[in-house]
Amino acid sequence: MKDLTMEKLVNHCKTVGFVYRGSDIYDGLANTWDYGPVGVELKNNIKKVWWKRFVQENDNTFGVDAAILMNPRVWEASGHTTSFADPKMDCKECKRRERADNLIADYAKKHKIDIVVDTMSNEEMEAFIAKHKVACPTCGKCNWSSIRQFNLMFETSRGVTDESQNKIYLRPETAQGEFVNFLNVQRTSRAKIPFGIAQIGKAFRNEITPGNFIFRTIEFEQMEHQFFCKEEDSMKFYEEYKQKALNFLLDLGFKKEELRFHDHDKLAFYAAAACDIEYLFPMGWSEVNGIHNRTNYDLSRHQEFSGKAMTYLDPTTNEKFVPYDIEYSIGCDRLLLACLCNAYDEQKLDGGDTRIVMHFHPAIAPYKVAVLPLQKDLNDKAREIYKSLQKQFMVTIDEAGSIGKRYRRQDQIGTPLCLTVDFDTLNDGTVTLRDRDTMEQVRVKTEDVAKYVQEKIAF
Ligand code: GAP
Repeated sequence: MKDLTMEKLVNHCKTVGFVYRGSDIYDGLANTWDYGPVGVELKNNIKKVWWKRFVQENDNTFGVDAAILMNPRVWEASGHTTSFADPKMDCKECKRRERADNLIADYAKKHKIDIVVDTMSNEEMEAFIAKHKVACPTCGKCNWSSIRQFNLMFETSRGVTDESQNKIYLRPETAQGEFVNFLNVQRTSRAKIPFGIAQIGKAFRNEITPGNFIFRTIEFEQMEHQFFCKEEDSMKFYEEYKQKALNFLLDLGFKKEELRFHDHDKLAFYAAAACDIEYLFPMGWSEVNGIHNRTNYDLSRHQEFSGKAMTYLDPTTNEKFVPYDIEYSIGCDRLLLACLCNAYDEQKLDGGDTRIVMHFHPAIAPYKVAVLPLQKDLNDKAREIYKSLQKQFMVTIDEAGSIGKRYRRQDQIGTPLCLTVDFDTLNDGTVTLRDRDTMEQVRVKTEDVAKYVQEKIAF
């Protein structure tokens, strides 16, 4: 992987306006980040291409936008109130709280010990930590409390008086919004099995582990897709979604050798199969998304807790059953981080200069075109072109500084095309389009620019 550290990426993101520290002027709030002007465009574009691929172009898939606050019974049914917890230990010396599984995984990686943390019980983790004297990353001592399960859901309460207060939760995943709407969507869309329900939305988890920038945050967006099918077809669709998920990343420009499947050794008791796709981030191989065959567990649990039959009547066989579900779930922020890492490049130029260039797929680049008038007298013409392109694309205009500096500014935010307006533009109506990656230039008629851009950004 190119010489990219997370620190370098964080600095770049802050400098050019992709991502800032959350509540920055108050010294931040751990594991929260704010997206700046180019960051929000990048994020919106990632959501757009995901929706296009997994809803618009995916036969028989329907979108929903469910409420973040749900009836607390949802989280009892899903198992989150009882088992959505991490194994936490407190350092008795410096009071730092850590995830036992992460401490062990880091230690094992550093000392090349071949273990699978996923399958370890709390007792086994405590024994490992004691045997290897795994130290606190903050104070270096090994004096841990025993492991306690720490629920990750944020609680809040509703109601205006103390008496009427009820505990509710900020959803820790969007998936339950898809499950609870299974009947609504099936009926209103007259959907036939197999069909999918997709959603993009915020989720919240009380993560205490340092997050590696936006890799793990306490508030994040998920893009989730549940595909409901018959039991006997479920493994076929599981394999299909593994491939679809991988192809989506490859089409975004990720390199095959920097992606890999990680099949889970330890399955949840209800799951038939589960895997992640991992990407080679600067801190090492880490999960980008998950694909699970969740059997009919979720719908069955909602059937049990709500008393509503979550069944599907097959119109051809008259068979009634609770469908199986293939879940494909990807964090938008985590994918965005992977896109930033994948795009970042430092290139030595002929004159000895270095340029930072973000090689985003043009479909997700924040701005598609930067309009650059070569001289002040050309500003009016440039604004006219800028205004007309603005109706179709996110476009920026930069009138200040040398043309070289202006190219560099666009390279570092990943603008795929720079459009230069010069005196020939006034005479023959042509402009120069400079390609971000090759730096090659072509002369194009002004009226053909929109078509050229459209072809360039197709996904
Ligand atoms: N409904 C299934 C589910 O939520 P998950 O593996 O816990 O499964 C799915 O989360 C995806 O959401 C992950 O693969 C990751 O991309 C993203 N994700 C999970 N926790 C996150 C966090 N704290 N910060 C950012 N992204 C997160």
